[in-house]
Amino acid sequence: MLGTKVMSSPMSANPGEVLREEHRLHRRMLIVLDELALALAAGLELQPGSMQRVFAYFSKFLVEIHQFKESEFLFPAAAMMNFANAGESIGRLIADHDETAVLLASLGAVCGIGDLPRKERVGSLTLVQNYCARLNRHMDEEEEIFVLLGEFMSEEESKLMLSQFEMIDRRHQGFGHWEREVQYLESLVE
Ligand SMILES: [Fe+2]
Ligand SMILES: [Fe+2]
Repeated sequence: MLGTKVMSSPMSANPGEVLREEHRLHRRMLIVLDELALALAAGLELQPGSMQRVFAYFSKFLVEIHQFKESEFLFPAAAMMNFANAGESIGRLIADHDETAVLLASLGAVCGIGDLPRKERVGSLTLVQNYCARLNRHMDEEEEIFVLLGEFMSEEESKLMLSQFEMIDRRHQGFGHWEREVQYLESLVE
């Protein structure tokens, strides 16, 4: 793990690839979240702080970095290009960001509470499963937009958006940090 190359963002050819690489990491962390919630519901003790670290990943890396890139730059560009049904999809994707943020806030309230009564533990599992399913569907739909965007964007537009993404990355902990968080948390549920 110490030998992992640390990058501010994945090296990729276009903005869609950068975001797709981040999606791969989100999907890995969703599996960790699901496993931790299952363990919690089964009455097992979790490693102290593990749920809080998962919550930090989603609230900081997913919302403040990844979704910010999409909302500020990718969705407006896709809307301007107006390719097949983009407007309808983008409206749905923006609503997903808002609605998954509400689910995430509820998740934050139960994160890391190891001594919850059984009923609440099972209730938090349902919440986690809803969040995972919603986010996975959201990413599937977005990835179709990434493909179209790759076809419609000029090289100049692509470079500009990548530089905007890098500006956001510089203000936060980079991809390498969050990748190490995923690797560590995966080691807890193996
Ligand atoms: Fe998104
Ligand atoms: Fe996304």
